[in-house]
Amino acid sequence: MIHDPRLLDALIARQSTPAAYLCAPAPDDETLKRLLQAPESAPDHGSLHPWRFLVIRGKGLDALGNLFVEAYRQRVPDASEAMLERERERALRAPLIVAAIARIVPDHAKVPEVEQLLAAGAATHQLVLATEALGFGVIWLTGDRAYDPVIHARLGLTDDERLLGLINIGTRAESAPTKERERRPATLTVWDGSDPVE
Ligand SMILES: Cc1cc2nc3c(=O)[nH]c(=O)nc-3n(C[C@H](O)[C@H](O)[C@H](O)COP(=O)(O)O)c2cc1C
Repeated sequence: MIHDPRLLDALIARQSTPAAYLCAPAPDDETLKRLLQAPESAPDHGSLHPWRFLVIRGKGLDALGNLFVEAYRQRVPDASEAMLERERERALRAPLIVAAIARIVPDHAKVPEVEQLLAAGAATHQLVLATEALGFGVIWLTGDRAYDPVIHARLGLTDDERLLGLINIGTRAESAPTKERERRPATLTVWDGSDPVE
Protein backbone atom coordinates (compact mmCIF):
# COMPACT_ATOMS: atom_id res chain seq x y z
CA MET A 1 0.00 0.00 0.00
CA ILE A 2 1.18 3.54 -0.67
CA HIS A 3 2.48 5.05 2.57
CA ASP A 4 1.08 8.53 2.76
CA PRO A 5 -0.54 10.13 5.82
CA ARG A 6 -3.06 11.75 3.46
CA LEU A 7 -4.58 8.30 3.01
CA LEU A 8 -5.46 8.30 6.70
CA ASP A 9 -6.85 11.83 6.37
CA ALA A 10 -8.99 10.60 3.48
CA LEU A 11 -10.27 7.62 5.48
CA ILE A 12 -11.13 9.84 8.42
CA ALA A 13 -12.87 12.37 6.19
CA ARG A 14 -14.88 9.91 4.11
CA GLN A 15 -18.61 10.37 3.97
CA SER A 16 -21.51 8.83 2.14
CA THR A 17 -23.54 10.85 -0.33
CA PRO A 18 -27.32 10.60 0.08
CA ALA A 19 -28.74 8.90 -3.02
CA ALA A 20 -30.78 11.97 -3.95
CA TYR A 21 -27.48 13.82 -4.55
CA LEU A 22 -25.94 11.20 -6.84
CA CYS A 23 -26.06 12.47 -10.43
CA ALA A 24 -24.76 11.33 -13.80
CA PRO A 25 -22.17 10.52 -14.84
CA ALA A 26 -21.46 7.32 -12.99
CA PRO A 27 -18.12 5.59 -13.50
CA ASP A 28 -17.98 4.08 -16.99
CA ASP A 29 -17.40 0.36 -17.48
CA GLU A 30 -13.61 0.67 -17.70
CA THR A 31 -13.50 2.70 -14.48
CA LEU A 32 -15.88 0.29 -12.82
CA LYS A 33 -13.68 -2.68 -13.74
CA ARG A 34 -10.80 -0.89 -12.02
CA LEU A 35 -12.93 -0.04 -8.98
CA LEU A 36 -13.98 -3.68 -8.69
CA GLN A 37 -10.35 -4.65 -8.24
CA ALA A 38 -10.43 -3.06 -4.78
CA PRO A 39 -12.77 -5.71 -3.28
CA GLU A 40 -10.31 -8.36 -4.48
CA SER A 41 -7.90 -7.15 -1.78
CA ALA A 42 -10.34 -7.56 1.09
CA PRO A 43 -9.20 -9.73 3.98
CA ASP A 44 -10.57 -13.18 3.15
CA HIS A 45 -10.05 -16.14 5.48
CA GLY A 46 -9.33 -19.23 3.42
CA SER A 47 -9.39 -17.21 0.17
CA LEU A 48 -12.98 -18.29 -0.39
CA HIS A 49 -13.85 -15.10 -2.25
CA PRO A 50 -17.33 -15.25 -0.75
CA TRP A 51 -18.82 -12.34 -2.68
CA ARG A 52 -19.94 -11.20 -6.09
CA PHE A 53 -21.28 -7.95 -7.52
CA LEU A 54 -24.07 -7.18 -10.00
CA VAL A 55 -23.79 -3.97 -12.01
CA ILE A 56 -27.16 -2.32 -12.61
CA ARG A 57 -27.50 0.73 -14.84
CA GLY A 58 -29.64 2.06 -17.69
CA LYS A 59 -32.56 -0.23 -18.41
CA GLY A 60 -31.43 -2.43 -15.53
CA LEU A 61 -32.39 0.40 -13.16
CA ASP A 62 -35.84 0.66 -14.78
CA ALA A 63 -36.25 -3.09 -14.30
CA LEU A 64 -35.06 -2.76 -10.71
CA GLY A 65 -37.65 -0.04 -10.13
CA ASN A 66 -40.38 -2.35 -11.46
CA LEU A 67 -39.05 -5.11 -9.22
CA PHE A 68 -39.07 -2.85 -6.15
CA VAL A 69 -42.72 -2.00 -6.92
CA GLU A 70 -43.70 -5.64 -7.43
CA ALA A 71 -41.98 -6.71 -4.20
CA TYR A 72 -43.46 -3.80 -2.23
CA ARG A 73 -46.94 -4.68 -3.48
CA GLN A 74 -46.47 -8.15 -2.04
CA ARG A 75 -45.06 -6.85 1.26
CA VAL A 76 -47.71 -4.14 1.61
CA PRO A 77 -50.83 -5.29 -0.26
CA ASP A 78 -52.77 -2.08 0.52
CA ALA A 79 -49.94 0.24 -0.60
CA SER A 80 -51.13 3.43 -2.31
CA GLU A 81 -49.95 4.40 -5.80
CA ALA A 82 -47.87 7.19 -4.21
CA MET A 83 -46.10 4.69 -1.95
CA LEU A 84 -45.42 2.40 -4.90
CA GLU A 85 -43.97 5.26 -6.92
CA ARG A 86 -41.73 6.24 -3.98
CA GLU A 87 -40.50 2.66 -3.94
CA ARG A 88 -39.75 2.77 -7.68
CA GLU A 89 -37.83 6.03 -7.19
CA ARG A 90 -35.40 4.26 -4.89
CA ALA A 91 -33.99 2.49 -7.94
CA LEU A 92 -33.82 5.64 -10.02
CA ARG A 93 -31.96 8.16 -7.87
CA ALA A 94 -28.38 7.18 -8.69
CA PRO A 95 -27.16 6.44 -12.23
CA LEU A 96 -25.50 3.22 -11.09
CA ILE A 97 -26.30 0.60 -8.48
CA VAL A 98 -23.98 -2.25 -7.63
CA ALA A 99 -25.68 -5.07 -5.77
CA ALA A 100 -23.23 -6.60 -3.28
CA ILE A 101 -23.86 -10.28 -2.70
CA ALA A 102 -22.25 -12.61 -0.16
CA ARG A 103 -21.82 -16.19 -1.38
CA ILE A 104 -21.63 -18.42 1.64
CA VAL A 105 -19.84 -21.75 1.50
CA PRO A 106 -22.08 -23.67 3.91
CA ASP A 107 -20.56 -25.74 6.73
CA HIS A 108 -17.00 -24.86 5.76
CA ALA A 109 -14.55 -26.81 7.93
CA LYS A 110 -12.42 -23.76 8.84
CA VAL A 111 -14.30 -20.58 7.99
CA PRO A 112 -17.61 -20.08 9.76
CA GLU A 113 -20.43 -18.26 8.00
CA VAL A 114 -19.94 -15.11 10.07
CA GLU A 115 -16.35 -14.79 8.83
CA GLN A 116 -17.46 -15.20 5.24
CA LEU A 117 -20.05 -12.47 5.76
CA LEU A 118 -17.40 -10.23 7.29
CA ALA A 119 -15.09 -10.82 4.33
CA ALA A 120 -17.90 -9.99 1.91
CA GLY A 121 -18.71 -6.87 3.94
CA ALA A 122 -15.06 -5.84 3.88
CA ALA A 123 -14.98 -6.40 0.11
CA THR A 124 -18.06 -4.23 -0.27
CA HIS A 125 -16.53 -1.45 1.78
CA GLN A 126 -13.38 -1.67 -0.33
CA LEU A 127 -15.64 -0.85 -3.29
CA VAL A 128 -17.18 2.06 -1.37
CA LEU A 129 -13.76 3.46 -0.48
CA ALA A 130 -12.37 2.96 -3.98
CA THR A 131 -15.35 4.80 -5.43
CA GLU A 132 -14.84 7.72 -3.07
CA ALA A 133 -11.11 7.68 -3.84
CA LEU A 134 -11.88 8.44 -7.49
CA GLY A 135 -14.03 11.38 -6.42
CA PHE A 136 -17.44 9.81 -7.00
CA GLY A 137 -20.25 9.85 -4.47
CA VAL A 138 -21.51 6.59 -3.02
CA ILE A 139 -23.82 5.20 -0.36
CA TRP A 140 -24.42 1.65 0.88
CA LEU A 141 -28.16 1.05 1.28
CA THR A 142 -30.30 -1.88 2.30
CA GLY A 143 -33.81 -1.40 3.74
CA ASP A 144 -36.52 -4.04 3.51
CA ARG A 145 -35.75 -4.67 -0.15
CA ALA A 146 -32.37 -6.21 0.73
CA TYR A 147 -34.19 -8.96 2.64
CA ASP A 148 -37.05 -9.52 0.25
CA PRO A 149 -37.22 -13.01 -1.31
CA VAL A 150 -39.02 -11.68 -4.40
CA ILE A 151 -36.07 -9.38 -5.09
CA HIS A 152 -33.54 -12.09 -4.30
CA ALA A 153 -35.16 -14.45 -6.81
CA ARG A 154 -35.23 -11.89 -9.65
CA LEU A 155 -31.61 -10.89 -9.00
CA GLY A 156 -30.70 -14.57 -9.21
CA LEU A 157 -29.53 -15.16 -5.64
CA THR A 158 -29.20 -18.77 -4.60
CA ASP A 159 -30.15 -20.09 -1.15
CA ASP A 160 -26.55 -19.67 -0.01
CA GLU A 161 -26.31 -16.04 -1.07
CA ARG A 162 -27.22 -12.88 0.87
CA LEU A 163 -27.89 -9.45 -0.54
CA LEU A 164 -25.56 -7.27 1.51
CA GLY A 165 -26.61 -4.00 0.01
CA LEU A 166 -27.30 -1.84 -2.99
CA ILE A 167 -24.31 0.41 -3.49
CA ASN A 168 -25.63 3.60 -5.09
CA ILE A 169 -22.94 5.40 -7.09
CA GLY A 170 -22.77 8.64 -9.07
CA THR A 171 -21.26 12.07 -9.25
CA ARG A 172 -21.70 13.98 -6.03
CA ALA A 173 -23.96 16.99 -6.63
CA GLU A 174 -22.46 20.32 -5.63
CA SER A 175 -25.44 20.80 -3.33
CA ALA A 176 -24.75 17.50 -1.51
CA PRO A 177 -24.64 18.03 2.25
CA THR A 178 -21.27 17.95 3.93
CA LYS A 179 -21.34 16.07 7.17
CA GLU A 180 -19.93 17.48 10.37
CA ARG A 181 -19.20 14.35 12.31
CA GLU A 182 -19.36 14.40 16.02
CA ARG A 183 -15.88 13.12 16.87
CA ARG A 184 -15.67 10.84 19.85
CA PRO A 185 -12.81 11.83 22.15
CA ALA A 186 -9.70 9.83 21.36
CA THR A 187 -9.34 7.48 24.28
CA LEU A 188 -7.73 4.09 24.38
CA THR A 189 -9.63 1.28 26.01
CA VAL A 190 -6.79 -0.94 27.14
CA TRP A 191 -7.06 -4.54 28.25
CA ASP A 192 -4.00 -5.41 30.32
CA GLY A 193 -4.99 -8.76 31.73
CA SER A 194 -6.68 -7.41 34.86
CA ASP A 195 -10.12 -8.68 35.72
CA PRO A 196 -12.76 -6.83 33.72
CA VAL A 197 -14.45 -3.99 35.58
CA GLU A 198 -18.25 -4.16 35.45
C1 LIG B 1 -25.00 -2.90 5.75
C2 LIG B 1 -25.38 -1.44 5.69
C3 LIG B 1 -26.67 -1.10 5.33
C4 LIG B 1 -27.08 0.24 5.31
N1 LIG B 1 -28.36 0.54 4.94
C5 LIG B 1 -28.77 1.81 4.98
C6 LIG B 1 -30.10 2.14 4.59
O1 LIG B 1 -30.89 1.31 4.18
N2 LIG B 1 -30.47 3.44 4.68
C7 LIG B 1 -29.61 4.41 5.12
O2 LIG B 1 -30.01 5.58 5.19
N3 LIG B 1 -28.34 4.12 5.43
C8 LIG B 1 -27.90 2.85 5.38
N4 LIG B 1 -26.60 2.55 5.71
C9 LIG B 1 -25.73 3.63 6.17
C10 LIG B 1 -25.17 4.46 5.03
O3 LIG B 1 -24.45 3.65 4.12
C11 LIG B 1 -24.23 5.54 5.58
O4 LIG B 1 -23.16 4.95 6.24
C12 LIG B 1 -24.96 6.48 6.51
O5 LIG B 1 -25.87 7.24 5.76
C13 LIG B 1 -24.02 7.40 7.28
O6 LIG B 1 -23.23 8.14 6.39
P1 LIG B 1 -21.63 8.10 6.49
O7 LIG B 1 -21.20 6.84 5.81
O8 LIG B 1 -21.18 9.35 5.81
O9 LIG B 1 -21.29 8.10 7.94
C14 LIG B 1 -26.16 1.24 5.67
C15 LIG B 1 -24.84 0.89 5.98
C16 LIG B 1 -24.45 -0.43 6.00
C17 LIG B 1 -23.02 -0.79 6.33
